[in-house]
Amino acid sequence: MEQTILTPATEQTAPKRVMLSGIKPSGDLTLGSYLGAIKNWKERSEQFDCYYFMADLHAITVRQNPADLRRRTLEQLAQYIACGLDPDKNTLFIQSHVPQHAELGWVLNCYAMFGELSRMTQFKDKSKKNADNINGGLFTYPCLMAADILLYQPDFVPVGEDQKQHVELARNIVQRFNGVYGEVFKMPEPYIPKVGARVMDLGNPESKMSKSDEAGNGVVYLMDKPEDIARKFKRAVTDSDVERCVRFDPETKPGVANLMSIYAACTGKDFAAVEAEFEGKGYGAFKPAVADAVIETLRPIREEAARILKDKAYLQTVYRQGAEKAGRIASRTLRKVYKKVGFVER
Ligand code: TRP
Repeated sequence: MEQTILTPATEQTAPKRVMLSGIKPSGDLTLGSYLGAIKNWKERSEQFDCYYFMADLHAITVRQNPADLRRRTLEQLAQYIACGLDPDKNTLFIQSHVPQHAELGWVLNCYAMFGELSRMTQFKDKSKKNADNINGGLFTYPCLMAADILLYQPDFVPVGEDQKQHVELARNIVQRFNGVYGEVFKMPEPYIPKVGARVMDLGNPESKMSKSDEAGNGVVYLMDKPEDIARKFKRAVTDSDVERCVRFDPETKPGVANLMSIYAACTGKDFAAVEAEFEGKGYGAFKPAVADAVIETLRPIREEAARILKDKAYLQTVYRQGAEKAGRIASRTLRKVYKKVGFVER
């Protein structure tokens, strides 16, 4: 997959391939969101026709404080831009501004089976975590996600490992739907970034650095101040092996491997170079070096995001234009779907 993506388009006249992804504004964006997702998105902006959105419809499957949700949605947009997603080259929009997502989501509910939805790992996990609010939206979440994807007929959908199952379900829906009605949807491919870009929790390197994590001590946020970042890395879990050396071994040294991945991603060095750099130096020198690399990587993003966030008129222009462009594409697909399933044209 990596190969396909990195090969420059040979026919200049062919339409650009399409890429789409979204993040729920259910928590503040993290270092993991940047290194694992947004940084890669940015690198594809030239080559692909890209759609990136704030998945606010998805966020309410878990109860949200309305003011926080609204604030985080706008912050997320400002952070996308600050991370280098140029609104002139990427279509950036808020999911709820493009009603076709909810509309196609409903249709696709009718083409997804109870059994397959019941098997979704995320549904099982979230039901456990939110035992007092196992709502219908949590259950049909993957149908809405399939709608997000299929409306834009994308070639690739960059997602984390944890979302691969949902993209697989979207692929099943495509097969089922196209099987009945002909070629309506393009078959999307999940695109999982390299392992190195998967950032784990600093306090618990066995689990993903998650923006929805309540405690937050092992989570570095894009907007964290340098002193907070330094503190979090100081407390980062390393490993209790006697040698205390900086060596990449995710099996036996997951904490160190995670710090190495972060350092490598922030500095552009490979693991061999990182090992050589800290040869004989131990964790005492390594951890502050990682913290510094992260601080310098996030500093321009934090400053730029804060600046953009103050300019509400600019943000409004961006999300309105984004919704307009997205809406044009989405309505084309939806119209086709409505016709196929037998709805009377308006
Ligand atoms: N479910 C994704 C997540 O939790 C977010 C998302 C919603 C998404 N719709 C999408 C990702 C469509 C890719 C494509 O991370």
